[in-house]
Amino acid sequence: MIDRKVPLFRIYWDEEDIGAVEEIIRSGMSWCVGKQIEEFEDMIKEYLDVKYCLTFNSGGSALYALMLAYKFKSGDEIIVPSFTFIATAYAPLYVGAKPIFGDVEFETFGLDPEDVKKRITKKTKAIIPIHYGGMACRIGELEEIAEDRNLILIEDAAESFGAKFKERFVGNFGDSSVFSFCHNKVFTTSEGGCVVTNNKEIYEKLKLIRSYGRVIKGDYFSESESMDYTEVGFNFRMSTLLAALGMSQLKKVNKAIEMRRGNAKYLNKELKEVEGIFIPETPSKDHYAVYQMYTIRILEGGNVRKELMKYLKERGIATRIYFDAVHKYSIFKNLGYENISLPKTEKLCSQVLTLPIYPHMARDEMDYIIESIKEFFR
Ligand SMILES: Cc1ncc(COP(=O)(O)O)c(C=O)c1O
Repeated sequence: MIDRKVPLFRIYWDEEDIGAVEEIIRSGMSWCVGKQIEEFEDMIKEYLDVKYCLTFNSGGSALYALMLAYKFKSGDEIIVPSFTFIATAYAPLYVGAKPIFGDVEFETFGLDPEDVKKRITKKTKAIIPIHYGGMACRIGELEEIAEDRNLILIEDAAESFGAKFKERFVGNFGDSSVFSFCHNKVFTTSEGGCVVTNNKEIYEKLKLIRSYGRVIKGDYFSESESMDYTEVGFNFRMSTLLAALGMSQLKKVNKAIEMRRGNAKYLNKELKEVEGIFIPETPSKDHYAVYQMYTIRILEGGNVRKELMKYLKERGIATRIYFDAVHKYSIFKNLGYENISLPKTEKLCSQVLTLPIYPHMARDEMDYIIESIKEFFR
């Protein structure tokens, strides 16, 4: 029996994170809305070099609010990957629009621009690619397609804060982009997310939608003046406690990214020689990956992967399949998507296996994973 445990991820935190939250708790005021929200948004704007940022209580809420802000509706088609977390595929459904699944390419695991072109119809309104696990997809080509065909490009950058393509941060290509700050992300507010955009109109609409359609003047909870409501909205807000945590986390993000990159480099170097797997190397120097996940491909797929997962589990090493194809889940099967043709997605989904990675992973934890994988393939 091995009592060692290597989890898929650990949160990179310090005393400053505790202090940031504690300060607000001790103030006995403004646990909900307050100045920390805008301060956190300003920090994100500055980091990513975008004009507007609004925080949300999850990445999924941010996507939902965007669907409302763009007024997508029944009859509209939106191209999304099936190789993603289900939130991306749900987004069109929230407003009655139709997700059209595009196939992937194997270099970045992102939407294949050539495949996307084939799926554009008169009804297509938008494309929502994801940047998988900290690596930019072929976003430059997707940006061109969106421009040429007059489509709205929304980046689902939930997993890839800090990743770059050609020196440009992801989140900087789309008309709007979404990030998640859930606790397995590059930095975290426990739950949370944001939208970044250079589109003032969308920013203004989102501000209303995020807070029940309220025309906000000052702080709702301490202003004596009444406020008007002009649009149906919801409470999609992040709290000040989490925004303060976010600022403290964001201050460390460059260090965390460097550590993640260093760990991925070490794992890549050691696992490169293992026959039967592909390691997650960046396809070109244009890519700056932040390794929110470390996902290998088991070339023989299916059963070999299953056996490897079992073997690693017995050794206390957590692994996970990120992702199963979304169109195969019951919800999408029942909506009639089961038999659509996405050959590359299906192949990729049968091969991927996400291994543990986090900034402060110890060298001996990595060696343990490496040795276990080598042992399995021997
Ligand atoms: C690609 C992608 N989109 C959207 C989301 C949703 O983010 P959240 O979990 O913060 O709602 C995630 C979360 O893991 C994700 O991986």
